[in-house]
Amino acid sequence: MDSPRNVALKDLDRRRMPQHVAVVMDGNGRWAQQRGLPRTEGHAAGEEALVDTVWGALDAGIKWLTVYAFSTENWKRPADEVRYLMNFNERLLLTRRDEFNARNVRMRFIGRRGWRVPKRLAKHMDDTAEMTKRNTALTVSIAFNYGGRAEIVDAVQDIVRAGVPADKISEKTIRAHLYDPKMPDPELMVRTSGEYRISNFLMWELAYSELVFTDVLWPDFRRGDLYAAIDEYQRRDRRFGGLSG
Ligand code: IPE
Ligand code: IPE
Ligand code: MG
Repeated sequence: MDSPRNVALKDLDRRRMPQHVAVVMDGNGRWAQQRGLPRTEGHAAGEEALVDTVWGALDAGIKWLTVYAFSTENWKRPADEVRYLMNFNERLLLTRRDEFNARNVRMRFIGRRGWRVPKRLAKHMDDTAEMTKRNTALTVSIAFNYGGRAEIVDAVQDIVRAGVPADKISEKTIRAHLYDPKMPDPELMVRTSGEYRISNFLMWELAYSELVFTDVLWPDFRRGDLYAAIDEYQRRDRRFGGLSG
């Protein structure tokens, strides 16, 4: 369902805010194509959307914001676009981390390392996580070279390597071996650009999330769209397999 646009923060129920919102930032290529620009211009225009969404989440008192920046499947794109995205993400990190840090935002990264991710970018991710690790207002988690199935495979490999006996493996064990064991499940996942799928995002963590889809293309997304998604979330009846009320 498409959400109404631009809900104001004051119109949300502050007692029912999600603590973790996950976002699939999709539609950059189409945004650019609509303007006769190369796809990469759409990625560039996505920076403003991301920054406004982060400040919007911060103002709303959301504690965790996870954004899907590059999937394990995105390597299938033309080499030029992949190269652009690697450089773009590196530059974004270096130019924005000081202001995030200054506003008490902790930055973390989830996804596979050591597999095609440029070493220098990986180093900047580690440095940024280290630099911001004591911040407490909001955790922005960037899913980079991230795949939900890869995350589960990596968790299972860790568990087997640790020699955990089969009958000792519970949901808790698997959770403890995910990329960020302390990350709570998102109550809400938002996907832009009118695509109605998960695309291998947070396969484990989204099991009971509310899913909100909007036609807005990612470069046009602003905090008002985030609040519109939260407004939609607040109207949902979350039953978790039980009965309402
Ligand atoms: C999302 O926008 C950004 C990434 C996947 C890196 P797209 O590049 O997928 O844009 P569309 O879906 O082709 O419009
Ligand atoms: C999902 O978008 C990945 C990111 C936003 C990083 P895609 O554009 O890659 O997903 P599909 O190909 O439409 O499923
Ligand atoms: Mg896409």
